[in-house]
Amino acid sequence: MRFLVLHLLLVTLSTKVRDVEGKRLPRMHCFDGCDLTLNYVEFDDTARLSKKSKRCHSTLHAKSLYLCLDQYCSSTGREDWLRSANHTCKATADIWLPPWEVIDGYTPEDIAGLRRLKAEEGMWNSHTPPLHEVVMPAPDFVDRAARTLDYAFFEMDTHWAYGIAMLYFWAVVITVGLCWRLLGLIREAKHTAWRLLPGGEAGTATIDKNHSSSGTYALMKRLVIIPATFGYRCSQNIGWCTIPPRIQTLTIAAFVVLNIVLCSISYPVFSGNLYWSAISTQLWRYVSDRTGVISLANFPLIWLFGTRNNVLMWLTGWGFGTYNNFHRWVARVATVQAVIHSIGYTEMIFERGDWPLFMKYWGKHYFWNGEVATILMCALSLLSVYGLRRCHYEVFLVAHIVLSAVVLLTTFYHVEIFNGEWNIFIWPCLLIWILDRALRFIRIIAFNRKVWNTAAMTTYDQASNIVRLEIPCDTTLIKPQAGAYYYVYFLNNVLFAHQNHPFTLAYVSTTDSATRNIHVVSGADPALTRPTYPRSPSASSSESDRLLPQTMDKSLSSLVFLIRPYAGLTSRLRNISNKTTRNLRVLVEGPYGSPNALNPNPLHSFSSVLFIAGGSGIAIALSHLSTLFAEESNVLDVHIVWAVREHAFASDILQRDIPASIRQDERFKMTVHVTQHIETKDDVRPEGSRRKLHNVVIKVGRPDVTAAVEHAAQEAGVASLAVVACGPAQMADDARRACVRALEEGYRGMEYFEESFKW
Ligand SMILES: Cc1cc2nc3c(=O)[nH]c(=O)nc-3n(C[C@H](O)[C@H](O)[C@H](O)COP(=O)(O)OP(=O)(O)OC[C@H]3O[C@@H](n4cnc5c(N)ncnc54)[C@H](O)[C@@H]3O)c2cc1C
Ligand SMILES: NC(=O)c1ccc[n+]([C@@H]2O[C@H](COP(=O)([O-])OP(=O)(O)OC[C@H]3O[C@@H](n4cnc5c(N)ncnc54)[C@H](OP(=O)(O)O)[C@@H]3O)[C@@H](O)[C@H]2O)c1
Repeated sequence: MRFLVLHLLLVTLSTKVRDVEGKRLPRMHCFDGCDLTLNYVEFDDTARLSKKSKRCHSTLHAKSLYLCLDQYCSSTGREDWLRSANHTCKATADIWLPPWEVIDGYTPEDIAGLRRLKAEEGMWNSHTPPLHEVVMPAPDFVDRAARTLDYAFFEMDTHWAYGIAMLYFWAVVITVGLCWRLLGLIREAKHTAWRLLPGGEAGTATIDKNHSSSGTYALMKRLVIIPATFGYRCSQNIGWCTIPPRIQTLTIAAFVVLNIVLCSISYPVFSGNLYWSAISTQLWRYVSDRTGVISLANFPLIWLFGTRNNVLMWLTGWGFGTYNNFHRWVARVATVQAVIHSIGYTEMIFERGDWPLFMKYWGKHYFWNGEVATILMCALSLLSVYGLRRCHYEVFLVAHIVLSAVVLLTTFYHVEIFNGEWNIFIWPCLLIWILDRALRFIRIIAFNRKVWNTAAMTTYDQASNIVRLEIPCDTTLIKPQAGAYYYVYFLNNVLFAHQNHPFTLAYVSTTDSATRNIHVVSGADPALTRPTYPRSPSASSSESDRLLPQTMDKSLSSLVFLIRPYAGLTSRLRNISNKTTRNLRVLVEGPYGSPNALNPNPLHSFSSVLFIAGGSGIAIALSHLSTLFAEESNVLDVHIVWAVREHAFASDILQRDIPASIRQDERFKMTVHVTQHIETKDDVRPEGSRRKLHNVVIKVGRPDVTAAVEHAAQEAGVASLAVVACGPAQMADDARRACVRALEEGYRGMEYFEESFKW
């Protein structure tokens, strides 16, 4: 196996080796080369001193060194080199080297008569008796020494440069994302100006020409931005893994290829290397060092991409899911590199000895820390596979945090021998981690300065199988925004108080301060409990302003979340709220999701918006309704296609959570597909409430997602259409594929957004 790996490496690298053999690197280390040759031998004009001290005390050594420098190396830079060598001697042996003048008396004849020190006798110095004369290293010996050093230093510089290339790669990716976002913002600004032309009638049906995509952009969307990487599956898992959308896969693939290339090139090996005589050993050494350095250089990226408060999300507008994919792949690449690094060093030990030697290394602090770091990185990767994440999220999370901390610590001790040279890649990880935790805490404080005093109310309706969570939010300093999500900690059970789960804000409910009673919200007419959306003449008000009622000062408000109980925390929440309304103490960390989460194309800038929602995914649609029907919105048509199992859930949402003002708006349309409990589906529209459910159609059975998208595309024609999928994975994949097909058919104004409840 060992030989197979080596063989593969040699085949890959042989071209490079020949290149270097043919065109030798310039001798940059001639002075060090002379020094190196003489360090292999001992002179007998010194007392019993350590090897380091002997070099500085021995006049024979100094004369041999000076003559070698004079004979083989250019005089440029010699003074500096000698000064540095002198300082080393002073520091290590408390002595200055003899002056250069000690070789003044040597004539060319004397030099020609000096004994030539050959590589063979120099390198087996344990068998070479101490020298009692001045020697001149043979030209070939000096050449090999200088070349050995040239290549070794070249490798060190290359490792460093290629490590930094990882940061450059992501800087380019982020810059592209940032420019894309800025372009979107400029387009959006122009578009707003266009809509506000004097004389324009607010809400007039106009076709959004600015949104109709150019041919190139439409092609990009069809071939690169929207499709699944291969064929159809994107949200759905394939076995134990998931494959990100094509554009992310291409980015990740470019990163992986870059890593493979940079770990495979620039290895100037040669026979005659004084450090590692065998070509295979040179390769192992260089490859091991290269992979070790690049792996370490990837560390800050892993930490940055994995945090909730990743500043890059704010810059590019890409969501946590996107960065999470980057996080995983950078971590996987770094893990493979760490494994090669460890295998390489282990191999080199076994080339020199056997198990006893290997065990001796295990006793060394730096060595075992490195091996442990590699083993734990592998464990981290294995424990993060999709299947485990899905089935045992909390186990995954705790293991992930603990193992990551230990990896960072052991890596720190692994590179400690380099006197902090490589800590430049370790401290940023710690800093990013601390900053993220600090920002999480700040977000909690910003929500409610009296963190211990955030009350929440939960109700569970068995028929709907939904937990409703309402959290008063008057104290929040950061205004809730459409599409935002919050992490909620439930403090009622100390055992689980550390767990925090993300939930999408469905909307902000308001109650009058005079009648403030959280129970009022659940019993009252939905049109009262949901904010009213006063039409503001101000074009400059932000999206969040529009989400929140303008009368916020006078009223009290609550965040409303719709939670589908699953097996863990959400099932506990269901159990404690079963049959009765419960008041709980919570911590709220948020809002998250980039400001105007769907920028650079905010939903309200499209002509038509189609939501494809499944079950609790309706929360996303609810969250955007207020902005879509606000004054500044350009939307002419909003269609929600919602598949829901429980008719009671559908009934509840229609009657409580969608204000009558919106339901009756001619731009609004909703098709509810009740897929189970269909025998009572008419309960969704009870007698006497026909007027309230204006624009709502109830159907039985799953929606045909493809047909819904096709129909919306045909209706939109050349105008812009946003399709937002927020439901089960298969539903999202159906919607994605239908959008690609619509683009193929020439509906260029189509954009696809996926709001997934998993990562
Ligand atoms: C951005 C976002 C918004 C969400 N909004 C909603 C919402 O509005 N309504 C709703 O019902 N659900 C929402 N979810 C899903 C919700 O967070 C999970 O259902 C919940 O965390 C499951 O908790 P559990 O312990 O009962 O899950 P389990 O039964 O233990 O796990 C079920 C699934 O939930 C995932 N999960 C568990 N814990 C977490 C966590 N801490 N963070 C992320 N995923 C987790 C697991 O991967 C697993 O796939 C959202 C998820 C995300 C990522
Ligand atoms: N903890 C979690 O993992 C969690 C928690 C909340 C939400 N979510 C995610 O949020 C979404 C909604 O979850 P939920 O539990 O609230 O939903 P749900 O109760 O499972 O309802 C989903 C609805 O969508 C329908 N549907 C499924 N696939 C479809 C398809 N391909 N085409 C058309 N209709 C389809 C279902 O029909 P049938 O009845 O015929 O199946 C059902 O009516 C899912 O993505 C879910 O993964 C996840």
